[in-house]
Amino acid sequence: MNTRFLDACRGLPVDRTPVWLMRQAGRYLPQYMKVREKCTFLQLCKTPELAAEVTIQPIDILGVDAAILFSDILTPVEPMGLKLDFVPGPVFENPVRSMADVAALRIPEMEEDVPYVLETIRILRRELAGRVPLIGFGGAPFTLACYMVEGKGSKDFAAIKKMMYCAPEVYAALMDKIADMLIAYLKAQITAGAQAIQVFDTWGGIPSPSDYEKYVLPYTTRVIAALGTEVPVIHFVKGAGTMLRSVRKAGGDVLGLDWHVNLGAARDELGPGIAVQGNLDPTVLFGTKPLIEAEVKRVLDENAGRPGHIFNLGHGILPTVPPENAIHMVECVHRLSQQS
Ligand code: CP3
Repeated sequence: MNTRFLDACRGLPVDRTPVWLMRQAGRYLPQYMKVREKCTFLQLCKTPELAAEVTIQPIDILGVDAAILFSDILTPVEPMGLKLDFVPGPVFENPVRSMADVAALRIPEMEEDVPYVLETIRILRRELAGRVPLIGFGGAPFTLACYMVEGKGSKDFAAIKKMMYCAPEVYAALMDKIADMLIAYLKAQITAGAQAIQVFDTWGGIPSPSDYEKYVLPYTTRVIAALGTEVPVIHFVKGAGTMLRSVRKAGGDVLGLDWHVNLGAARDELGPGIAVQGNLDPTVLFGTKPLIEAEVKRVLDENAGRPGHIFNLGHGILPTVPPENAIHMVECVHRLSQQS
């Protein structure tokens, strides 16, 4: 039974630093592409046996210390009433723009509307049999709202910000509804067997620090508080470096850091009582083996042996990374952090 990851989430001492990679199941693995040839990404998410298979691939191939459910942050948004497609980035045909659009959104019944997510979790707990813990996940309210309002990825996030500034009551109603959905969705994942939850706020660093406090933090805080203390919660906010103290107020056991902060300096600022996850620049995995080793060592040195560090990339692994480099990274983390 490998409990390294869960122990580190709780700030307990471990024999070596646990490591996993955001987006560890995916297109950089030929084994994933082989499964993916047979179906679309959404079909893969909705077929529990296949979703479980690709979840386990990186456990076997990379030797990581945690599995993360194969799905997407937008999976539970589709049954709210928005037609979803991946081309390959996510696209919603009917984005949310008005109070009437918000009113039309429904809160899904999880066992009925996303049974495949919960079934995948149940299969994984059986198949993993304690080998490594299983992480469930969801998007943070703000990141989900970005996709729901913009209708797709964005460079300037003009539509969501226009709503924030010009129609604050519509924005608040939308964020409240998303938060309600997330609470039910993440609780259902925990009931089905998820042993930790990661909340992904990929776009949480887009608003200014004062707008973060006003428009983002209250909703994420409500979601994390509702999850209780049964399983550890990891809160990953890309671009959190200049507002670590605000982001910490959202709660959770672990703060996920991107590579724009020095991990040691971030820990000094955060103080004790919270673990951190991260934060290698994902493009380091294009480097030579010695470079990867030196960068892993640098991040471990920044942490300086403090308990409560989970090694990860600062964002998802890129689809063109050679798998052998990811394998090497995991091996370096384990070897260099081994306690004698
Ligand atoms: O980490 C894992 O391995 C678990 C699976 C996972 C996926 N998406 C699978 C996926 C997780 C945790 C996510 C989270 C996710 N999805 C986020 C937050 C984390 C982050 O990366 O910022 C976001 C913003 C999304 C939305 C999303 N899904 C985008 C923007 C895209 C297209 C870009 C891309 O990387 O292709 C997706 C598609 C997606 N989600 C793929 C995978 C494996 C690629 C689909 C394919 O096979 O074509």
